[in-house]
Amino acid sequence: MIDQLTEKDIDVFASDVEKGLSAKPKYLSSKYFYDSTGDDLFREIMKLPEYYLTKCEYEILTTNRQKILGIIKPKDQEFDLIEFGAGDGFKTKVLLKYFLAKEVDFKYMPIDISENALEILRSGLIKTLPDLKYKPLQGEYFSALESLNKIDSCNKVILFLGSNIGNFSWTEANGFLSRLSDLLNNGDKVIIGFDLKKDPEVIRKAYDDSSGVTRAFNLNLLTRINNELDGNFDLTNFKHYATYNPQSGEARSFLVSKKKQDVRIGKLDRSFHFDLWESIYMEVSQKYDVETINELAIGNGFRVLDNLFDCKHYFVNSVWEKE
Ligand code: AVJ
Repeated sequence: MIDQLTEKDIDVFASDVEKGLSAKPKYLSSKYFYDSTGDDLFREIMKLPEYYLTKCEYEILTTNRQKILGIIKPKDQEFDLIEFGAGDGFKTKVLLKYFLAKEVDFKYMPIDISENALEILRSGLIKTLPDLKYKPLQGEYFSALESLNKIDSCNKVILFLGSNIGNFSWTEANGFLSRLSDLLNNGDKVIIGFDLKKDPEVIRKAYDDSSGVTRAFNLNLLTRINNELDGNFDLTNFKHYATYNPQSGEARSFLVSKKKQDVRIGKLDRSFHFDLWESIYMEVSQKYDVETINELAIGNGFRVLDNLFDCKHYFVNSVWEKE
């Protein structure tokens, strides 16, 4: 994301921060991690040895690209390949390149809230894939999809990769999938990346890396509050703490106050009190098992066509059909 926030964006951010820091227990939303520094830090995270998710999904897409094409391609018909949250398109490129080599008739339509992010993605893709039909959709996922439905009745394949669904609670994930399902036609396909339950320590370390990048990624949200909302968080007074609960499958991260302190946020014209060891809940990264993934699919009007795994069975790309 590129940091060109409107007045309204700042007001929504401010009121979300106020809500979260006045709640008991305190929380902030991980959707605010991704300013340009946050984007850079997340790119660093994806390269970390501990952060297996990106590597696993890359392996799955690379080894299964032929299979994926076989499953998703409607017979002799063109389709729209619509991506939610494409980022820099690094993993998607594997599929785009292969589909172009096979002369598949498709349009690539990434959806992003930031016009600028879509431009950056375009310039990156066009260099290596000049023949790609690139039709970016600017806006929120569902409003963009809705407006597309009005002008285009093409077969659709939705990509929601990277375990981005993991940032949703169970209720939120179901809400998201049922809205998606409502906007699709029978026969449309969805490919979703889910991170799977595994050795708890492997998961926990992915969110508490030895080089401290994930720590910096979390603390960056406090920096954002300092910069954009005139806050005075002293980052040295907070400790990054990551947990994994093998029963619920929730990896959670927290920032814990190392002392009793008050933090002032100018934009809100008020202070927030932190007791010694009081924490802010920052993010959930939900881990799944295949049974629960099936439940999510069936419960929201989809049929599971295939589950594609990496060799360690750490991650799955689940391919669904709307029915
Ligand atoms: C981008 C949501 C998939 O939860 O694994 C990485 C974000 N947070 N390290 C994840 C994240 C800390 C990531 N997702």
